[in-house]
Amino acid sequence: MEKMVIEGGYPLNGKVRVNGAKNAALPIMAACLLLNGTSKLKGIPELTDVATLCKILNELGTDIKKCSDGSLDITVKSEKNIIAPYDLVRTMRASICVLGPLLGKRGMAQVSIPGGCSIGSRPIDIHIKGVESLGAKVEVRDGYIFATGEKLKGSDVYLGGPYGSTVLGTCNIIMAAVLAEGRTIIENAACEPEVQDLANFLNKAGANITAIGENNLVIDGVDKLNGIEYEIIPDRIEAGTIMIAGAITGGNITLENDASCYLASVIDKLREAGVDIKVPDFGMNIPGSVKSGECTVKSDGNIKPISITTLPYPGMPTDMQAQFTALLSIANGTSIITERVFPHRFMHVAELNRLGANIRNDDAIAIIKGVSSLSGTTVMASDLRASASLIVAGLAAKGVTEIRRLYHIDRGYERLEDRLTSLGAKIWREKE
Ligand code: EPZ
Repeated sequence: MEKMVIEGGYPLNGKVRVNGAKNAALPIMAACLLLNGTSKLKGIPELTDVATLCKILNELGTDIKKCSDGSLDITVKSEKNIIAPYDLVRTMRASICVLGPLLGKRGMAQVSIPGGCSIGSRPIDIHIKGVESLGAKVEVRDGYIFATGEKLKGSDVYLGGPYGSTVLGTCNIIMAAVLAEGRTIIENAACEPEVQDLANFLNKAGANITAIGENNLVIDGVDKLNGIEYEIIPDRIEAGTIMIAGAITGGNITLENDASCYLASVIDKLREAGVDIKVPDFGMNIPGSVKSGECTVKSDGNIKPISITTLPYPGMPTDMQAQFTALLSIANGTSIITERVFPHRFMHVAELNRLGANIRNDDAIAIIKGVSSLSGTTVMASDLRASASLIVAGLAAKGVTEIRRLYHIDRGYERLEDRLTSLGAKIWREKE
C-alpha cells in the first residue's frame, strides 16, 4: 500500500488544467449500454472508479477501447448478461447507475445492492420507487435488486427524498425512461451539472429530453439511440479542491478548463472568506450551457470565518464540505458547517484535529474554531473527499504530513500529487 507524504508550507503558484468530471463520466459511460454502435467519450479521467465501471460494462457485454488520445471507444457487443455482480459493485456505489440503462434497453437487470460507505448509509429506495413508477417489477433479495420491465411506460415520477433530490437516482430514471413509451416527467429531479451532462449526451445520441437543469425534467421516449462522440464537462469538485489548495497556502493559481460556471456557491463562499477569485467574462451558472475558460485564485493566506450549509445544486456541494472544513480550520475565528446532504459525512474531522485543528462535530454540524497553524503528523483517509481535505490541510501544515489509505484519492483525482507538484507543492508517494 502507498501513502502520501507532504512537506507543508509552500504556496501554490502557476497554472493547472482541470480534468473531466468523474461524476459525469460514470453515468455517461453506463448510458452507452442504451446506444447502438460505438461511442467515443473524450475527457474521461484516469481513475480507479472509471476502471471499476469498465470492468462492470465488460461483464455486461461491452467492448471498451482506450485510444491514443485518451478517449474511450465504447461498443455494446452482446446484450445477454444483465448481472452487475457484488464483487465489482461493492467497491463503487456508483455502479447502481447500470440499473436504469439495463432495464431501459434489455428489459431486465440484476444489480447487487451497493451498501453503505463511510459517508453514510446511502439507501437506494428512491431509485427503486422511480423505476417502479415506469412499470418495472422490482424484488430485493439475496443482496440483489431484480428488476424486470419488458416495455417501460412513461409516467410522472417524484424523486424527492429526506435530503432533497437524488443525483444518481435522477440519472437512473432518465436512462430507464429515454427508450420507454411516452412521456416521463421527473419531479424534483437533481439539477447537478453532471445530470445535465448525461441528458445532453443522451440528446446528442437521439433522445428527447427537455427542461434540462430544471426541477421538472421531461423525457419523451424514442425508439433508438446511436453512438456519438462526446466530451465530458470539467470536474467542478476537482476545480474547487485545487482552488482551496491555492487559498489555504496563500497562493496564486490559474485553472484552465475551469467550469466556474458551475461553481457559483463555492466561489461565493471563498470570496466571503477573503479569497480573490476572477472568473471568465461569460458569467456563471447558465443552465444547459457549459462554458469553461480560465479562472484565477489568489490568497494572502488570511482566511475569514464563514458559515456554510451543503445543499443539492446549485447550493454548496457536499463534495466540497471536507475541503472547506480544512480551509476554515486556519480561519481567524469560528466557522460553522451544516451538512444537509449526507448528515454523517464528518469522518475527516477527527483526522483534521490530529493535525492540530479545533473542530467539534455534533450530528450534522461542525463548529470550527480557527487555529493559527496546523502541524504535520500521520493521518488516515476514510473516503475520497476526506482524503482531499487531508491533502489540502497537509499543504498548509508545518512539518510533514503522511496520509494512509491513499487508495481513496485515486478513485476521484487523477494523479493529484503530480498536478500539485507542478504548482510548487512538496508532495510525493511512498510505500507504506
Ligand atoms: C452522487 O451520489 C455523487 N456520486 C456523490 O459524489 C455526491 O456526494 C452526491 O451525489 C450528492 O451530490 C456520483 O455522482 C457518482 P444522492 P448519489 O442520491 O447520487 C439520499 C463523491 O465524493 N438518498 O444524490 O449516490 C442519500 O442518502 C461522491 O464524488 C436516499 O435517501 O447521492 C443522501 O442523503 C460521493 N435514497 C441524499 O439522498 C435514495 O434512494 C443525496 O444522495 C438515494 C439517495
